[in-house]
Amino acid sequence: MTLKDKALSVRENAYAPYSNFKVGAAITAANGEIFVGCNVENVAYPEGTCAEAGAIAAMVAAGQSRLTKVFVVADAPLPVSPCGGCRQKLIEFGDGDVQVTMATINGVEKNMTLAELMPGAFTEQHLENT
Ligand code: THU
Repeated sequence: MTLKDKALSVRENAYAPYSNFKVGAAITAANGEIFVGCNVENVAYPEGTCAEAGAIAAMVAAGQSRLTKVFVVADAPLPVSPCGGCRQKLIEFGDGDVQVTMATINGVEKNMTLAELMPGAFTEQHLENT
């Protein structure tokens, strides 16, 4: 299955009874393996987690810590854009030139790099005096 097909497929498993907005994410790790995640909401709303966070957790749990490609998809009028928190999470594990494909389930896609999505990111360089 392609990265896109895996993102579309995991989206079906999203637990989103509060927003009714199901999101699927698939990421390719440096070793070529693909990891997936979906959003998992909670009745205590802030406890919900995004699809991207789930995919990153699966990648790290499998022993991989670099990602080379990201695909995010939802049933939205515009290609779904990772939230600010997820951008920070993605940049932790990916270089600035990593392509993030944002998509709708109807096949509209927009590509941006992590650097474009997260200009001026807070990185480990900022911690160098510590
Ligand atoms: N959501 C994601 O999972 N990823 C995104 O990139 C955008 C938003 C989720 C969070 C929440 O469960 C729902 O979409 C509505 O915000």
